[in-house]
Amino acid sequence: HADGRLKGQHVLVTAGPTHEPLDPVRYIANRSSGKQGYAIARALAKMGAKVTLVTGPTGLAPPAGVETVKVETARQMLAACEAALPADCAVCCAAVADYRPQIETEHKIKKERGGLSAIPLSENPDILRTLSNHDTARPRLVIGFAAETDDVIGHADAKRKRKGCDWIVANDVSPGTGTMGGDNNTVTILSEDGEEEWDNMPKAAVAGRLADKIADTLLKG
Ligand code: PMT
Repeated sequence: HADGRLKGQHVLVTAGPTHEPLDPVRYIANRSSGKQGYAIARALAKMGAKVTLVTGPTGLAPPAGVETVKVETARQMLAACEAALPADCAVCCAAVADYRPQIETEHKIKKERGGLSAIPLSENPDILRTLSNHDTARPRLVIGFAAETDDVIGHADAKRKRKGCDWIVANDVSPGTGTMGGDNNTVTILSEDGEEEWDNMPKAAVAGRLADKIADTLLKG
């Protein structure tokens, strides 16, 4: 894919989990490793795109040739994405926590005081929805992911319509698939034009094929 087809295009990619702090030692998070999102950023950069990768905490090295912005929380991820605009395309691969603890305490919560028996939550901003509905700088192509465990296609298609993105990449994250944290993925791309089912393949191959499809679409005008 080192063909420079995406030269002059700016693509924003989100990856990894978010960490939502509760106190100085605890946070709410999920099992995303960042592997799929980093692979997408790398594939796009290889094709010549200018890539901004906004990433939650992962154990991965920043990909070469990619502007990498490290964040922790969903709110920080949104701010970093807004700051990266304008972009021709956005790929939201991050597993953003839908909720955060309503208050973050400065001191460690003590179980003896009953502090951990209930944690009130607030809803986090939705980055994919915000980018899809941006009034001044909506990327021409907005791509979301859908991590599902049942009725994968049905839920993913509903999600695409609800969030207002152009494509949604559906993947099954049921235990046993190894999708979260593993090296392979099985995805279906859903758009207004229908669905495209891809075989199980390494995340790098999913990324390469997705980058090709993005280039085809962006260059079509
Ligand atoms: O990181 P890996 O270990 O490689 O695993 C990859 C992955 C399974 C995490 C990835 O392929 C994936 O599916 N990412 C999206 C996970 C997710 O949070 O899906 P969701 O169905 O909860 O969210 C739907 C979409 O909205 C996603 O594009 C998500 O980035 C976006 N979203 C969700 C909530 C929120 N507050 N802001 C968002 O932008």
